[in-house]
Amino acid sequence: MSNQAKVKICSVGKYIPEKVLTNEDLTEWLDTSDEWISSRTGIKQRHISTIENTSDLGTRAAENALANSDIDVSEIGLIIVATMSPDSQSPSVACKIQANIQATNAIAFDLNAACSGFVYASSVAEKMLSVSSYRYALVIGAEVMSKVVDWSDRSTAVLFGDGAGAMLLERNDHTQSFINEDIHADGSRGSALTSGESSVQNPLTPEKETNAHLKMSGRDIFDFVVRSVPKNISEVVEKSKLQLEDVDYFILHQANARLIKAVSKKLKQPLDKFPQNIQHYGNTSAASIPILLEELIENGDIQLGNNQTIVLTGFGGGLAWGSLLIKL
Ligand code: ACO
Repeated sequence: MSNQAKVKICSVGKYIPEKVLTNEDLTEWLDTSDEWISSRTGIKQRHISTIENTSDLGTRAAENALANSDIDVSEIGLIIVATMSPDSQSPSVACKIQANIQATNAIAFDLNAACSGFVYASSVAEKMLSVSSYRYALVIGAEVMSKVVDWSDRSTAVLFGDGAGAMLLERNDHTQSFINEDIHADGSRGSALTSGESSVQNPLTPEKETNAHLKMSGRDIFDFVVRSVPKNISEVVEKSKLQLEDVDYFILHQANARLIKAVSKKLKQPLDKFPQNIQHYGNTSAASIPILLEELIENGDIQLGNNQTIVLTGFGGGLAWGSLLIKL
């Protein structure tokens, strides 16, 4: 191992499956309406995968991040995939992507922190890269939420969508993108969002019914976010010896436009510092932050190397939540 080095973000990429499902489309089999969904959540449509699995979306996002850089794939030493909707328990999505992009020198593993996964995975990747002998790491948020939601449950089916985003990190001597972090978990409140339950099943157990679909107490999550997230953001900014006014953008997990508005109000920061794309994609869980980051870089709102101050904030199942203060 070499001495601790700096870590910078060198490129991002995203991939969204083609098929669009509008709110109107959902009314074909759910007792819901565009008015209910858009007024409560801000969502107008979501993209749904028809054949591609989580590793396929993640592979395409990784390829796009690589295409936006000039690095040789053999120099990638680490791949972490944040996901709560893996193709399988084994092999991991990260190992599948490692094979697909032929990153033969990379170690690879998945990390599950639900909708906070990208924040958790970026933090872990930064720590590992800073003390490693390899030069590049890929952090990917990839989800096919459409395979875990119960399509007959209008209270959750309308909220989620599929997609993937990827970020390429470089160990270097000059530029540190990761300034500070404030990350938390509270497992005692985990029942507010459950998914993929697998109960003990063997010849010795009585028969049990397992409901693997995603279940969520929307109200509890909403209250938790409004209480915890503004405090979390204030703390990461304070730790960095900055003011909220110094932050150019707060890139929040895209769960609900009303939640984002509530956080902006509580922090007394203008809503236009909280970019949103939830209207197009719904809640893509661990993928939402890198997808939004990619779009902000793509449209020029954020320019890599321009020293803008950005807070990335994830929150959701676990419960897990956290913020990274980064300079881009
Ligand atoms: N269409 C029409 N009516 C609906 C729908 C729907 N799709 N869904 C629920 N309703 C009804 C309910 O049945 C209820 O009817 P009732 O009063 O007759 O019983 C009524 O609407 C109100 O339901 P609530 O659940 O109280 O609605 P609420 O205003 O709380 O909005 C929502 C629900 C949008 C889920 C909100 O609570 C929310 O966004 N919570 C946060 C979710 C979140 O942030 N999750 C992030 C974590 S995700 C992760 O980690 C993977």
